[in-house]
Amino acid sequence: MRDVDDAHLDPAPRDAANPLAALRDRVVRDDPGLVYLDGNSLGMLPVATAGRLRTVIDAEWGGELVRGWQHWAALPASVGDQLGSALLGAGPGQVVVCDTISVNLFKLAVAAVRHASAGDPHRTVVVTDAANFPSDRYVLAAAAQASGGSLRTVAPDPVDGVTPDALAAALAPGDVAVVSLQLVDYRSSALLDLASVTEQAHRAGALVLWELAHAAGAVPIALDEAGADLAVGCTYKYLNAGPGAPGFLYVRRDLADRLSSPIPGWWGAADPFDMDAEYRPAAGAARFLAGSPAVPGLVAVEEGVRLLAEAGIDTLRTVGSDLTDYLIDLADAWLVPLGFSLASPRERRRRGGHVVLAHPEAYRIGRAMVARGVVGDVRPPDLLRLAPVPLTTSFADVREGMARIRDLVVAQEHLALDDARDRVT
Ligand SMILES: Cc1ncc(COP(=O)(O)O)c(C=O)c1O
Repeated sequence: MRDVDDAHLDPAPRDAANPLAALRDRVVRDDPGLVYLDGNSLGMLPVATAGRLRTVIDAEWGGELVRGWQHWAALPASVGDQLGSALLGAGPGQVVVCDTISVNLFKLAVAAVRHASAGDPHRTVVVTDAANFPSDRYVLAAAAQASGGSLRTVAPDPVDGVTPDALAAALAPGDVAVVSLQLVDYRSSALLDLASVTEQAHRAGALVLWELAHAAGAVPIALDEAGADLAVGCTYKYLNAGPGAPGFLYVRRDLADRLSSPIPGWWGAADPFDMDAEYRPAAGAARFLAGSPAVPGLVAVEEGVRLLAEAGIDTLRTVGSDLTDYLIDLADAWLVPLGFSLASPRERRRRGGHVVLAHPEAYRIGRAMVARGVVGDVRPPDLLRLAPVPLTTSFADVREGMARIRDLVVAQEHLALDDARDRVT
């Protein structure tokens, strides 16, 4: 094991220079001893959100009752615009906040395949990553089937994700309607090049539907500039909007009015309250709304976006990359000699906001970490995911968390646990 008290691994100068340090108190911290490295699964609760939710519940729902809809009705589009402008590089009218990734992916994938195959009946294939998040694969397969198409999967590099060559082979037959990939891989953290993949798909005549679950709020995203067609994402991770908070979808302005939602619910209609017998879709991305907006979740998204906008996505990215570099340096020094290996790209520009370490005992180590007050998560078969989210994590937290992991493995605390899996990992 390398000596890690080297000056170059001291967290103090890093924390002293951290421009985000002042924002650390803006989230609720009930347990000051907890090292939380799972904000890429569920972000921490912003103090402002707790207060805002109290107002929504007591004064708005409690006091205004149904009259609240006069202002709640605007939230899916207005919060979408704020999110688009602060974090997605998207101009107004193209982002709405609603539903979940799984539901939004289905709506947009079906719409995209139907649109592509109406122009060319041979374009019915949906391309995705063979190791994509399971729900994305299930939903894309069902969306392809529902629109008379099929799913084609591309085998990714386990660390670097889908390569341009692998994607080119999948696009070669000329039958692809839509390519749907994660911008940041949920397992390895590989970050794709949004602009070049979009351009590659467009050159082959396909649309692109980006999945931004692990990217939104972690890396700068320029959907408009890249000419991206469609995107979906969630808000409970880096956007700190809470468990079950609604997701979002993006539809490029000039494409929206040529697409139809397969779930033409009343909130996606031009005027939901005209109670028209005939469905007339709203203009822009709003046509992909379906049912009643989830108001408490929407205001939590608004507060989360406000906090990230104050931090600034470029600063979040720089500090986030410094934190993940630091975590990798500590892993090299302390954990690699104990049987861990890096399963994320080493180069920071190719990596999102989390770092993945492989270890054959990842499950038991993950559970032993919780007993030591370090929360990360585990993905099968042997991956430990650690996210030092820049808004809420200090360099000292990273050092402390990594030291606790080292110490518990040296003491073999994980071997004293049975290998039963928790219901949620
Ligand atoms: C990478 C990725 N894709 C998709 C999903 C599914 O999202 P939802 O539960 O909002 O449908 C998740 C959920 O955590 C995820 O991490």
